[in-house]
Amino acid sequence: MTVSTIILAAGKGTRMKSPTPKILHKIAGKHLIAFSIDLAKDVKSKEIIVVVNDENEQSTKTALLGEQAMFCSQKRPLGTGDAVKIALKCFKIKSKYTLVLYGDTPFIKNNTIKKMVSKAEEGFEFIFLGFQAETKNSYGKFKLGPKRTLIDIIEKNEPEYNSAKSLSNSGILLAKSNILGDLIQKIRNDNSRGEYYLTDIVKMATKYGHSSTYVQCEEDECIGVNSQLESSIAERKFQDGFRKKLMASGVSMPSPETCFFSHDTVIEGGCVIEPYVFFGTGVKIQSSTIIKSYSHIEGTHIGKNCQIGPFARLRPGTNLSGEVKVGNFVEVKNASLASKTKANHLTYIGDAKIGANTNIGAGTIFCNYDGKNKNRTVVGNNVFIGSNASLIAPLKIGDASIVAAGSAINRDVPSESLAIARPMQQNKLGLGKKIMLKLQKVTNKIWK
Ligand code: UD1
Ligand code: MG
Repeated sequence: MTVSTIILAAGKGTRMKSPTPKILHKIAGKHLIAFSIDLAKDVKSKEIIVVVNDENEQSTKTALLGEQAMFCSQKRPLGTGDAVKIALKCFKIKSKYTLVLYGDTPFIKNNTIKKMVSKAEEGFEFIFLGFQAETKNSYGKFKLGPKRTLIDIIEKNEPEYNSAKSLSNSGILLAKSNILGDLIQKIRNDNSRGEYYLTDIVKMATKYGHSSTYVQCEEDECIGVNSQLESSIAERKFQDGFRKKLMASGVSMPSPETCFFSHDTVIEGGCVIEPYVFFGTGVKIQSSTIIKSYSHIEGTHIGKNCQIGPFARLRPGTNLSGEVKVGNFVEVKNASLASKTKANHLTYIGDAKIGANTNIGAGTIFCNYDGKNKNRTVVGNNVFIGSNASLIAPLKIGDASIVAAGSAINRDVPSESLAIARPMQQNKLGLGKKIMLKLQKVTNKIWK
């Protein structure tokens, strides 16, 4: 069975009260619209059309660069029926079925769509997705006929609307393309909102002798994002599910509700995630690594048996091999640390390659930016960098060398050498006491 997908995303999204288009708000680091695109791909859509408006068209195209979607603009939001009518004209291939998804409904499962497909295979021409809502709401309501047939969907504020008991309409529709194309032309906007309702297609189908039915799913799956509050509810649902999956795969998390993950976070079994850790996108962690509290990690790969944090910040481009230690108040960006290397305290490592078994002392700063360009530092194996060193890039520090504490190093250091770059210390005997007396900080008595 061939399917093409329309994703409706031309609504104004005014309730978000944000300059960012609604569908470009993120859940677990992923744009809302990308959830629907992924679902459309999962169901093997021949084509995917995203219906955008003039305001979100450019930013949506940029956010979805490289995706197999086409864009089609609805100049004025005249209703979901109008949006589908416009989209149908944009298809290049004729698929037997058309799936309509919403750009703001991120959690519809592939399995649910498969159930809708089975109904289509039984011969139904329109299959809507519905759910039993826990609380009173303003969704469209299913009007059912005998044998699970659907004879109408009643929108709020229309005569006959009855929010009690009836199943709510999620908005998701699977329809036989040629009949959808036919009936969509017949929809009128003579209703309380003056909009072309896609849901009127059911009434039309009944009138012209076509069959409609529904599939029911959990309410949770149909969560839509229309406001910042709903966005936070969707985020919580995602996080709860993700934490459960991680724990089921052997990740220890004593306080899961305090840890936040991205849609693409990969953590292998045997890892421990202490309370209050945040994972941005692009993080992969191999087994038996411990991430201590208050660490913030994004765009980073971490090997086995590492110890990270507390209070570590790992930024994009960080690559840590096995048994690396990155301690408190250490920031790493675009840098690789080979196995058993340690940076335990108060350090900035940027644009660097560090060998194995090297020690980066407390307070070391990799000075990677000269005000114009970013420069790289390469540090060898078995190197000891003393505390409070400034390593001024571009720079190479050879294997088994030592950099003395407090040094500002701006010339390459050959292997096995000691580099020391700080002013020579002088001790002026008796001068301390003389100054103290002069400043009256102490009296002569204390030395008697
Ligand atoms: C719609 C359904 C309702 C269902 C509810 C589920 C209709 C008439 N009603 O109502 O039965 O219970 O969704 O959430 O379809 N959009 C466009 N162009 C437009 C209008 C909307 O692309 O002209 C897009 C929006 O961006 C959104 C989706 O269509 O992604 C739904 O639009 P919305 O206005 O939120 O529909 P509801 O009134 O919630
Ligand atoms: Mg809505």
